[in-house]
Amino acid sequence: MATPAHVAIIMDGNGRWAKARGVPRLAGHRAGVEALRNVVRAAPELGVAYLTVYAFSSENWSRPKSEVSDLMGLLRIFIRRDLAELHQSGVRVRIIGDREGLEPDIRSLLEEAETLTFANRRLTLVIAFNYGGRDEIARAARRLAEAVSRGDLDAGAITPDRFAAALDTAGIPDPELVIRTSGELRLSNFLLWQAAYSELVFLPCYWPDFSREHFVDALAAFAGRERRFGGLAPREAVS
Ligand code: FPP
Repeated sequence: MATPAHVAIIMDGNGRWAKARGVPRLAGHRAGVEALRNVVRAAPELGVAYLTVYAFSSENWSRPKSEVSDLMGLLRIFIRRDLAELHQSGVRVRIIGDREGLEPDIRSLLEEAETLTFANRRLTLVIAFNYGGRDEIARAARRLAEAVSRGDLDAGAITPDRFAAALDTAGIPDPELVIRTSGELRLSNFLLWQAAYSELVFLPCYWPDFSREHFVDALAAFAGRERRFGGLAPREAVS
């Protein structure tokens, strides 16, 4: 069975999970962190080498202040409590997104996580935090334009590969599979460049209910897809 090397997940539905139980939204996000822990443990066992998760989008700032601060708090707790275990189990942590807008203590935590786990190879966990696909593309374009105006780069040398190397995900292969929970059928500004040829799997369950079984089912759905990358299916190509 073909297993994707890189799976990206839009962890959606924490709020509705909480509402259905009559508990505060924060309880839904906490349960979401627990689901994330389980997925990080399962990923390398299932043969996945890169796992990207959408933890906070550049649009999430428009939520009530208290919820924004709850999500920031959960990231702090996740890094502080789980970093040692992640490191021991061979997980490399990478963060994508705009760090400029984050509190200095969060920025240092993120840097600490990346530095400590730099040499780990069992799984690369990419956390998209203060991340938006359009913002990432605009920041990459700005970086390249600055290099051109300094005279360090010839504008004619900007190819798709050169552009990809200016994105936050430089060096990370594109995700073959993007999973979104909670029944919404959108990408919501997630990995817009990188997901150009990704297979998309939408699951009805809310993120806190996402289990190893859901993960296995999504990988099986991926294995059953025919990927053509704009070409023809092998059967059609020879006829
Ligand atoms: C979507 O649920 C989820 C988020 C906005 C954030 C995902 C965050 C976590 C799983 C926990 C935080 C993880 C880290 C590493 C800090 P929603 O609130 O949009 O749910 P709803 O659409 O049902 O309201």
